[in-house]
Amino acid sequence: MNSKRVLQLFAGIGFAAAAMTVVADQDFDPQPVIEGRQSALRDIGAAFKGINDEFKKSPPSLPLIRQYARQIDDLSKQQHRWFPAGTGPESDVQTAAKSEIWQQPAQFEAGQVAFGEEVAKLVQAASGNDPAAIKSQAQALGKTCKACHDKFREKDD
Ligand code: HEC
Repeated sequence: MNSKRVLQLFAGIGFAAAAMTVVADQDFDPQPVIEGRQSALRDIGAAFKGINDEFKKSPPSLPLIRQYARQIDDLSKQQHRWFPAGTGPESDVQTAAKSEIWQQPAQFEAGQVAFGEEVAKLVQAASGNDPAAIKSQAQALGKTCKACHDKFREKDD
């Protein structure tokens, strides 16, 4: 094969790859991604409420709190896959995700990182037997939820 033919071949492959990318984008269905993240976030919300509810009891159940903390931690590890481009308000799917998520990706990611760090610290605190320390770490975690929601989630009507 002469070099001109090789170049033509590569150009052809490049074109095919570009064409496939376009087709893939058209085929992308935001619905399962959006519904999947909302379901995970509802589970996170329920587990976080479970922790706060325990602290209204005396004594709170530390085994239950540990379980909820681990659940939030497990779910938080998927969060980097929850907000791909095309799953914002421009999609036809009901979502409270604001377009700021994709306009300020560094700030949004910082919010996700803070969340991941604080939940890891909560798992750590919950492995001990000091309810006050666990409670204060649960509050620190709650601040990361609120900080992100204030900026990147639509308010409920
Ligand atoms: C980095 C940003 C971020 C962090 C941190 C975060 N959230 Fe959210 N949360 C969102 C966004 C954005 C939505 C809207 C998702 C959608 O509608 O597609 C949301 C939605 C929710 C929902 C509603 C889900 C539904 O549609 O029913 C709950 C509940 C929730 N979050 C709880 C929490 C709790 C509890 C925490 C902390 C323990 C937390 N979130 C941390 C960004 C965040």
